[in-house]
Amino acid sequence: MKLKDKTAFVTGGGSGLGAAISRLFAAEGARVCVTDIDLDSAEKVAAECRISTPGAISLRCDVADSSSVRAAFAAMDSAFGDLDILVNNAGIIHTDPEYLAAFQSKGLAQMAELMTTGHIETHLDTIDHLTDAMFDRMLKIHLYGTFYCTREALPRMRKRGKGGRIINMASIMGSASLAGAPDYAAAKGAILAFSRAMAREAASYGVLVNAIAPGFIDTPLLTPLDEQQKALIAMQTPLNRLGKAEEIAAAALFLAGPDSTFVTGQSLSPNGGIYMSQ
Ligand SMILES: NC(=O)c1ccc[n+]([C@@H]2O[C@H](COP(=O)([O-])OP(=O)(O)OC[C@H]3O[C@@H](n4cnc5c(N)ncnc54)[C@H](O)[C@@H]3O)[C@@H](O)[C@H]2O)c1
Repeated sequence: MKLKDKTAFVTGGGSGLGAAISRLFAAEGARVCVTDIDLDSAEKVAAECRISTPGAISLRCDVADSSSVRAAFAAMDSAFGDLDILVNNAGIIHTDPEYLAAFQSKGLAQMAELMTTGHIETHLDTIDHLTDAMFDRMLKIHLYGTFYCTREALPRMRKRGKGGRIINMASIMGSASLAGAPDYAAAKGAILAFSRAMAREAASYGVLVNAIAPGFIDTPLLTPLDEQQKALIAMQTPLNRLGKAEEIAAAALFLAGPDSTFVTGQSLSPNGGIYMSQ
């Protein structure tokens, strides 16, 4: 029981990585506040958490809206009265069919050109299809959401004087910056920088701030990718497969628990070897 008597606030906890993290934290003894913009999905996960550790709650929280974040933290205060761990996990990728179609067909054309002529003549031009609203939404959910929740969590952790942990979900896109979603890459890169800056500030009161930068993990987030695209990703991955949500949850448990007491300002990247940064 690595998180016995701890409390955790998880954003985007209704699906994929957030759900796996919530379940594992509960299995390790934490009372989890499972939050999501979709309350029904958060409640389903909270019910699963309660089977391992009583007391898990679900809350609707839209991380892109600071008033929704404030209200969710206030509700968590009433239920738990304490906060040990914040996991900033909520996120999206592009699902706009027009954007995806343009990107996918051009990506395939590029691959065919590389295999036949050896040089690329088709240009991706993703920037041409990115509207102000799309760019805003990407930054709002990932970067602003991380900021809003951290701004709520840190004063609570400081005040209680028992330290704490903040885990921010970045991506290999934040440093490897693969083509196709420059706004997503920018948001994730900013989350890595924000994590380091907060790690320096929060160290004086014992709060450790780290990021996880997963590679491609098989969750509902990747629904816009077809099986052929997933197979191509697996082929480029030295471990020859996509990751599982539970493998990211294990990284989160390491950063939340007693085995990482000298780790702060770092990024842990479970990615099957598709990106080797050091
Ligand atoms: N799956 C991957 O391959 C992968 C790789 C690297 C990083 N990530 C990151 O991991 C995080 C979780 O992704 P996932 O794969 O579990 O995706 P997912 O789609 O399975 O789950 C994301 C959850 O976030 C919620 N959400 C979306 N917008 C929200 C908002 N405004 N406020 C609150 N909740 C909101 C969704 O309702 C959903 O429950 C994201 O930040 C994503 O960018 C995922």
